[in-house]
Amino acid sequence: MSSTAAGSLTVTMNGSNHTATLPLLPGTIGPAVADIRKLYADLGVFTYDPGYGGTAACDSKITYIDGDLGILLHRGYPIEQLAEKSTFLEVAYLLLNGELPTDAEADEFHRGVMLHTMVHEQLRQFYNGFRRDAHPMAVICGVVGALSAFYHDSLDINNADHRRISAFRLIAKVPTIAAWAYKYSLGQPFMYPRNDLGYAENFLYMMNAVPAEPYHVNPVLARAMDRILILHADHEQNASTSTVRLAGSTGANPFACIAAGIASLWGPAHGGANEAVLKMLAEIGDSSHIPDFIAKVKDKNSNVRLMGFGHRVYKNYDPRAKIMQATCHEVLTELGIKDDPLLDLAVELEKIALHDDYFISKKLYPNVDFYSGIILQAMGIPTSMFTVLFAVARTVGWISQWKEMMEDPSQRIGRPRQVYTGHVQRNYVPVESR
Ligand code: CMC
Repeated sequence: MSSTAAGSLTVTMNGSNHTATLPLLPGTIGPAVADIRKLYADLGVFTYDPGYGGTAACDSKITYIDGDLGILLHRGYPIEQLAEKSTFLEVAYLLLNGELPTDAEADEFHRGVMLHTMVHEQLRQFYNGFRRDAHPMAVICGVVGALSAFYHDSLDINNADHRRISAFRLIAKVPTIAAWAYKYSLGQPFMYPRNDLGYAENFLYMMNAVPAEPYHVNPVLARAMDRILILHADHEQNASTSTVRLAGSTGANPFACIAAGIASLWGPAHGGANEAVLKMLAEIGDSSHIPDFIAKVKDKNSNVRLMGFGHRVYKNYDPRAKIMQATCHEVLTELGIKDDPLLDLAVELEKIALHDDYFISKKLYPNVDFYSGIILQAMGIPTSMFTVLFAVARTVGWISQWKEMMEDPSQRIGRPRQVYTGHVQRNYVPVESR
């Protein structure tokens, strides 16, 4: 934790002369944060921040977001440059280790990951316990959690080698587990990973190939998939990453922590939004229905949201959404899809929303999920796999954040407080008197 204060904030209790001085901790960029750790000891009060919108729970060197300017940096590198010039495995190395790899380091990392792509053969049995129509997020949540029952040799969280091997195992095995969840839903044989293929290429191969025929992965689609994985790799302290950190803060093993992250990602306010966008577009059906839909979104009593819009941190266009939109056009061109009614509908919806006072005043812009589903659908990936794909990519971010936390000597168990609004102490009432 940064210890040099960049000034301080003085808090005075109303109606008394009790004050607390809160040091202001500077980041390398971004606003300073007030260190409230001694506030309770000094003044006897906690802070209240449901949803943690104004609270920094850790310090981190991995990812920086400027939500007002729409900037996303990984280890200082802008997402636009990484999406254009890098590869997913290189970004994974960067997130985990802090620097871009040399050629030799990249080769070694690639080999290290690909060495672990197979899963223990007994894990295959787990799939048979699920219904065929189970949501693949339910399946991967269970199977990833079960990894801790198979890889006892890398569970010592205080051993740097164990942490490194667990990271390799997770990055390598989650695509295999995810592709098998899809194959299971289709009733097709599981395809074993091919280590001669690139990371994204291998994932597409395991999802789409069948043993009866040769399968060639389209390089343009493999590149698009690689870029989609880069765009989802990390996003600082979002809900699922915070879940992973909270679980990890108790000393839980990394496989259990990532399973917790997957569960947290599933919700439609988070990673489940890409699936929800496609459902929403299907429900709208035609651009003539957009005004009615927008009216419902604006109606406070309707509970309908424009999925793929809005973000806790971005109050500007999500930079990932811009890249996603460009990738969408590339993929559709490669696939020879001249007119995609869903894309047309999404573009029209975005145009209308961006000119509507409701969205302007609340600073609601498209986020990463607005266009990703359209690309994935065009690539032949079923809607139920969209969030799974997000989980495959985010595993790298989760494990990097977990590793950073484990290496931080000031790390302690995450344990928020509360404002208690229940009954004050009272005596037990026997049933006959209630
Ligand atoms: N459609 C309509 N109104 C919205 C939307 C939306 N998508 N998002 C926020 N608002 C309104 C909300 O009703 C509230 O209005 P008011 O101040 O009048 O009560 C205001 O904007 C602020 O919303 P909030 O819910 O307090 O904001 P939040 O920071 O808690 O929520 C969010 C952020 C992403 C959960 C929310 O914008 C949302 O539900 N978006 C749709 C789901 C979505 O696309 N999620 C993906 C997020 S990006 C990828 C990821 O994180 O996984």
